[in-house]
Amino acid sequence: MEKERIYIFDTTLRDGEQAPGYSMNLDEKIRMAMQLESLGVDILEAGFSIASPGDFASVQAISRAVKNVTVAALARALPKDIDAAWESIKEARRPRVHTFLATSDIHLEYKLKMSRQQALEKAEKMVAYARNLCPEVEFSCEDASRTDLDYLCRVVERAIAAGASVINLPDTVGYATPDDTFKMVSTVMHKVPNIDKAIIAVHCHNDLGLGIANTLAGLKAGARQAECTLCGIGERSGNASLEELAMIMRTRNDEYPYVNAIKTEEIYRSARLLSSITGVKISPSKAIVGSNAFAHESGIHQHGMMANSLTYEIMTPESVGVLTTSLVLGKHSGQHAFEKRLEDLGYALSSEEVTRLFGEFKNLADRKKTITDKDLIALVESTNVPS
Ligand code: KIV
Ligand code: ZN
Repeated sequence: MEKERIYIFDTTLRDGEQAPGYSMNLDEKIRMAMQLESLGVDILEAGFSIASPGDFASVQAISRAVKNVTVAALARALPKDIDAAWESIKEARRPRVHTFLATSDIHLEYKLKMSRQQALEKAEKMVAYARNLCPEVEFSCEDASRTDLDYLCRVVERAIAAGASVINLPDTVGYATPDDTFKMVSTVMHKVPNIDKAIIAVHCHNDLGLGIANTLAGLKAGARQAECTLCGIGERSGNASLEELAMIMRTRNDEYPYVNAIKTEEIYRSARLLSSITGVKISPSKAIVGSNAFAHESGIHQHGMMANSLTYEIMTPESVGVLTTSLVLGKHSGQHAFEKRLEDLGYALSSEEVTRLFGEFKNLADRKKTITDKDLIALVESTNVPS
């Protein structure tokens, strides 16, 4: 049986960057975008172009820099937003305007002050407007998980008829359970007559810690695009985490028999780069990329690991790119090898920082024969580089 393809939509540079403490400048965003391209994401949401001239410039620069990935720009369902989004991505090889409008009664009444009928017409009109500019349009029904299901189906049908080829059903406030998500996606899949003309996406926030579980439930119900971020960063408690999703699909392919284009060996490097650029440390116990994810401290576990690593490891460190290197660093190593290693670990450091750290590395190497990646990470992070 041929496995179904899941498209990975990364929104680290948009939803992720909206989280406090994660803002990045233009150069940092380009660097991150290039790494996400190496990681193998299918769609990279580069930003919210109308938000500021800086956002516009970085979306445009990313559109020019990356080659093998679709570049999406977010826009409210307003002509001025859609114009800005399109202007910023039009030089991308594969541009996508991503426009959204809330569909839940609570958002319609208190935020948009619109009736259901008005929102339906607006969604249709703005998708058609975007489609007139851009060959690929994604439409998101913001707060889909709290939207009346019959109404949601009507909006989806009209958005597809107006030209959207991707329909996103976000759990904007992280309220849904996996059962809710399964029901929402399957209802849309079965009740919307023209659904075969579009791909359904899920975009699950993590307010109740269910972002990944909901994403998996959405995929089981037929969604084929998963929206996520590196390390799960995003508004409030964040979004479903890309590395967790990719490793679930790899480790539990029996249960989730899909294929995707993520090169999982690039995961660790990508997460480290994000941490290095933003200065936000990765929690040691973070699944997949935390420093303890592959550490075994207790005697019983260590004993089992020595006999056969399958006793306590469900995936190998190598499979996520935690480096097990043959390149040994020690007191005889030169600055070049040291710098290369830091780069491989995903650190984005200036040459002054590397030089300063190299002095400290030499002191450490005098005390310790061989220096492991863990030592290097501790060295960089204990000296607060970058701040
Ligand atoms: O969470 C959400 O609803 C969003 C939309 C803008 C897609 O981020
Ligand atoms: Zn979101």
